[in-house]
Amino acid sequence: MKIIRTPEEMHSFSKSEREAGKRISLVPTMGALHEGHLSLVDKAKSLSDVCVVSIFVNPTQFGPNEDYASYPRTFDDDVKKCEERGVDAIFAPSPESIYLPDASTKIVESSISSNLCGKSRPKHFAGVTTIVGILFNIVRPHLAVFGEKDAQQAAIIKRMVRDLFFDVEIETGEIVREPSGLALSSRNKYMDKLEREGAARIHSALLAGKRLAEEENCDNVDRIKTRVINEVSNAKTRVIYVEVVDSETSLPVQRLERGKARISIAVWYGNTRLIDNIRI
Ligand code: PAF
Repeated sequence: MKIIRTPEEMHSFSKSEREAGKRISLVPTMGALHEGHLSLVDKAKSLSDVCVVSIFVNPTQFGPNEDYASYPRTFDDDVKKCEERGVDAIFAPSPESIYLPDASTKIVESSISSNLCGKSRPKHFAGVTTIVGILFNIVRPHLAVFGEKDAQQAAIIKRMVRDLFFDVEIETGEIVREPSGLALSSRNKYMDKLEREGAARIHSALLAGKRLAEEENCDNVDRIKTRVINEVSNAKTRVIYVEVVDSETSLPVQRLERGKARISIAVWYGNTRLIDNIRI
């Protein structure tokens, strides 16, 4: 497995693989890899000849009071996991090699990004679309795989690819959960065992909303949201949002269409910001 540190080296690796007729996949990550990321690697590998994982904690997607400095960085462990999973190359550039000192161009998606997480993290998605656009141009993958835990992010990337005619197929991979139901996330590292057990109520609350919609035939979006909020709330949780959204676009819906919707949630659990979602 190759570890590539510069855009130039990455570009020439991809160029020679493309010239050899190979199909390249990219799994963009910020490292601190867990089984959720590795399941995306499995999917990427099954759809391509050469699998690249990028590991880059992207400064521009963190707000001024967010956790950029403390975000878990576990590079050696990530390398081992990628090697065991059969990744062909890791692209792990420095921020300086990605963002030129006088860089003045951004990619901004302005519809989906203004909802859900975009309300409490106003510049976050512009940071995400910009870095993903940069990664697509450097790695030049035929396809890229994103996790469904970040369903809004995946919807925004699909919209960006469509609107800007990027020549990349976008695939998504299912949420991987701990046995308790807690969705795997690099930020789970901020919680101790007891807190992680407690945070499993986020998934139980989503299941309660799903049951109301599916078993009790409720199509009233406000009632579903209220059920989820009531189930998730306790002394440790502060709800940021609960929304019923279109499962493809992540845009909030007023009336439920079963098979085409998702309940999306973001909460503070103690000092940890967690997101999750479930299909209805
Ligand atoms: O989902 C993530 O880990 C990040 O937002 C991504 C897509 C790697 C961009 O930095």
